Amino acid sequence: MKGVILAGGLGTRLYPLTYATNKHLLPVYNKPMVYYPIQTLVNAGITEILVVVSGPHSGHFINVLKNGQDFGLKHFEYAYQEKANGGIADALALAEDFADREPITVILGDNTTDADIGPAVRKFKSGAMVFLKEVKDPKRFGIAEFDLQDQSKISRIIEKPKQPPSNLAVTGLYIYDNQVFEFIKQCDPDYIGRGELEITQVNNFYVEKGRLSWAKLEGHWLDAGTFDTLLAANLYWAKKNRSELTEDKESA
Ligand code: DAU
Repeated sequence: MKGVILAGGLGTRLYPLTYATNKHLLPVYNKPMVYYPIQTLVNAGITEILVVVSGPHSGHFINVLKNGQDFGLKHFEYAYQEKANGGIADALALAEDFADREPITVILGDNTTDADIGPAVRKFKSGAMVFLKEVKDPKRFGIAEFDLQDQSKISRIIEKPKQPPSNLAVTGLYIYDNQVFEFIKQCDPDYIGRGELEITQVNNFYVEKGRLSWAKLEGHWLDAGTFDTLLAANLYWAKKNRSELTEDKESA
């Protein structure tokens, strides 16, 4: 399967840090943020990746990621999202040719996780799949609401709910079949009133067709898009890296 990283947007929640460069190039411990979602795809066996960029610092990605060789990729390409804050679904629309009618795994560029999504990627056949994780601040995310009759079924996803129906957030990791590009074309920029094409609307189109499946994301997960979560991601990955280094030294 091919992979797509969405690393556009203006990162306004992180001003003034993002005045000088793109959010996804800010450090998370010893690596630029975007390295983490790339590594998640590589660990899942994906070797063909498209990175979607936008905004005034788009050129910085080439300095950092170059031709993707550092990750041992077979194929690496960039796409430029014209409307810097057009929304996640608007960014994903640029992957249509790259996907070439095949399923794709998508990760938001500010999501870091140590979960292994390889088995889900390999098992995926059709429809869409989302990965859920319990969160303490559900008003900040797309939140899953479950069918009253069948609690294993998502009845809809609510983006940034004022009254969250659960504490299970839709993380920024998704697997889609090719119908995703049809659904994106039906998205309404006023869906939640922020002028963006929302990935939550796309996911709800799959729900309506009975084609959305889900799994809990097993492992640590954080979206590093706010000051507090950026700090938390730095602390988590620093601690994890250091303990891995100590384990390596001890076993040497
Ligand atoms: O992190 C998980 C959450 O991400 C989900 O629970 C939400 O359902 C989903 O809408 C999204 O919410 P955010 O409000 O956190 O999305 P944000 O605008 O911060 O964008 C997240 C990433 O998506 C960003 O790091 C890069 C990419 N993006 C975003 C926009 C708005 C683009 O590539 N282009 C864009 O125009």
